[in-house]
Amino acid sequence: MKIGIIGSGIVGRVLGSAFLKEENEVMLGTRDISKEEVQKWASENSKGKIGTFNEAAKFGEIIILATGGMVTEEAIKLSGVDNFKTKTVIDATNPIAAAPPVNGVLQFFTSINESLMEKVQQLLPEANIVKAFNSVGNAFMYKPDFDGIKPTMFICGNNENAKNEVTKILDSFGWETEDMGKVEAARAIEPLCILWCIPGFIHNKWTHAFKLLKK
Ligand SMILES: NC(=O)c1ccc[n+]([C@@H]2O[C@H](COP(=O)([O-])OP(=O)(O)OC[C@H]3O[C@@H](n4cnc5c(N)ncnc54)[C@H](OP(=O)(O)O)[C@@H]3O)[C@@H](O)[C@H]2O)c1
Repeated sequence: MKIGIIGSGIVGRVLGSAFLKEENEVMLGTRDISKEEVQKWASENSKGKIGTFNEAAKFGEIIILATGGMVTEEAIKLSGVDNFKTKTVIDATNPIAAAPPVNGVLQFFTSINESLMEKVQQLLPEANIVKAFNSVGNAFMYKPDFDGIKPTMFICGNNENAKNEVTKILDSFGWETEDMGKVEAARAIEPLCILWCIPGFIHNKWTHAFKLLKK
């Protein structure tokens, strides 16, 4: 598949390398291809392409949103809203506010009865958005090693085919997937990021992932 990535931060670069390892074509999208980390990614990932947000969104049969939460709507506009139509869009973003954590608890700019994913879905009504990858640190996004135990990736979205497609991707990346339903479930999935980060901010422990136990 052709994967277009919007955002060249650590998440965009890690997922870009992961999709290349899984034999996909990847274009990493950025506002500035001359950035040191983008050039380094390109030199370490010789099959990877780099381009503008708009070029990456056009290129992708699947698009990954990997921008800072506060700038995600701006990044989508730069990418060209029409380029998302009918495509599977993996939304890895979190609505983290520009304010410091309080006793290790991140602050969000959304409230409990809304989510960034719903705002993005309103902006892209014809895109098949799936929330994924937002509730774990980038070091564990691809082939997480927890001594043989597969961690759980919580996903949600309105389109069943897109969620099936993302589940297959998560299988190949080494995850077990739990589908939490429609877009509103992002109100629960996005705050998992807050929970995931607490041991990091309080105890400098960043090496964990969530697992749903079921009977
Ligand atoms: N870091 C993690 O381990 C982790 C884990 C799970 C989820 N997430 C979420 O994933 C997303 C990406 O995180 P990150 O740590 O990789 O990077 P980030 O620093 O949060 O932001 C990444 C991208 O945002 C873009 N950006 C910044 N200002 C912009 C603007 N004014 N307009 C348009 N785009 C702008 C940048 O694009 P350019 O390429 O042009 O610089 C940059 O590549 C965030 O929403 C984060 O909460 C992060």
